[in-house]
Amino acid sequence: MLKEIIKYAKEYGFIYPSSEIYNGLQSVYDYGPNGIELKNNLKKLWWKDMVQMYKNIVGIDSSILLNPETWKASGHIENFHDIMIDNKDSKKRYRLDEILENHIKKKVDESEKKNLLKKTNTLIEENKLDELYDIIIKEEIKCPVSRTNNWTKVKEFNLMFSTNFSSSDKLSKVYLRPETAQGIFLNFSNVTKTTGIKLPFGIAQIGKVFRNEIIARQFIFRMKEFEQMEMQFFIKPGNEKKWFNYWKLIRFKWYSSIGIKNNCLKIHKHSKTSHYCNSAVDIEYKFPFGYKEIEGIHSRTDFDLKNHQIFSKKKLEYFDYKISKSYIPYVVETSLGCDRLFLMILCNAFIKENSDKKNSRIYLKLNFSLSPIKFAILPLIKNKDIIKISKSIFNNLKSKFKITYEENKSIGRRYKKQDLIGTPYCITVDYQTIIDNTITLRDRDTTNQIRININNFNSFLSKFIFS
Ligand code: GAP
Repeated sequence: MLKEIIKYAKEYGFIYPSSEIYNGLQSVYDYGPNGIELKNNLKKLWWKDMVQMYKNIVGIDSSILLNPETWKASGHIENFHDIMIDNKDSKKRYRLDEILENHIKKKVDESEKKNLLKKTNTLIEENKLDELYDIIIKEEIKCPVSRTNNWTKVKEFNLMFSTNFSSSDKLSKVYLRPETAQGIFLNFSNVTKTTGIKLPFGIAQIGKVFRNEIIARQFIFRMKEFEQMEMQFFIKPGNEKKWFNYWKLIRFKWYSSIGIKNNCLKIHKHSKTSHYCNSAVDIEYKFPFGYKEIEGIHSRTDFDLKNHQIFSKKKLEYFDYKISKSYIPYVVETSLGCDRLFLMILCNAFIKENSDKKNSRIYLKLNFSLSPIKFAILPLIKNKDIIKISKSIFNNLKSKFKITYEENKSIGRRYKKQDLIGTPYCITVDYQTIIDNTITLRDRDTTNQIRININNFNSFLSKFIFS
């Protein structure tokens, strides 16, 4: 099904491979005209539900390039790496955890499986590269491409992209941010001073991040350039369990509000957490390639603010008037990848009806708020009066919604195209419109059509759409 979605996403203007005329760039993608509308709608919805709806959550937009000290303090220079191995014959590079996991999966003996998994996880956690290499050799693990075990040594590979930053007197190395969170931590004092916001409070942002993933694949699931939607919630130390559970629940419930069925979601608790947190869960979605992480909820303690305070030598404490004491707040973060969310929405909304029959139909069952185009205005034929009425409907609606107007091709083909891009309603203007001022309103999901007077259209909008 993923192959079909990839083909469909390109054909209908959602997602194109980046720089395609030069044969693309691995794991980097562009959003087309329908894709950008859907992506913007997702971002708007998240912003509304995570910022607008809370009096104690504010937003920022921090830069992608940050002072390189940031990444020493955050631990990304030391810890943000994957362990990898190259096969000398195929010249292919692999993430070690994946190649080990695939090998272990194939073992028949359950206890052997369990023991080897435990052992390799511990070695990965403790960064014992030589011992991991010994396992690869002892287990005779072969490269899936060359089928040989002619491996290089096991190495660490930092996932941050770097570039040269020129200032007046020197060139220095800077990194493209691998998470938006650090821009929030660096602005902690600015936000508290300029807003006077009191604990507990959140700072949210949406922005591009970059990770030099070793194996970037599964379409836009794992990319090298992607967008995150993150919210850091600052709290009094000691309350982290309560807020961790609170955000876990709120974020899990959010998915049903955007049309995802609960039975396609699950929570995965991490036994091994990242260097910055003491407790973490992933919300996972049932993608065509299995249950995979869509969003992480992390209890980051005071790890980041504390380290930035040490490295910058600037106080990053909060004065709590209630107890007349200063302390470094703890943080619970919600971290969602916008592109992964996009893929989840596409997989969830892609409906094929009667695929083996004559009346087969593909449509995108998107919530009204997410649909790239809300209404298609379709004059039935190119008659002067019909076109005039159609254009006037278009002009009346265009300031309120992203809509489209199409007068070419048969009405059946125009309906089919709108179904394919998820337009919830088609408005058809015909001869009867000239006589009695009524239009046909066609519902994407049921394909049912009703006639409605143009003068009643506004109340239709509020009654059916905003209720
Ligand atoms: N600030 C914490 C953080 O960045 P993460 O689990 O590394 O945590 C958060 O990433 C989310 O970002 C993931 O749940 C996923 O949705 C998205 N994400 C991570 N790596 C990605 C990649 N290579 N391509 C697309 N999305 C990615």
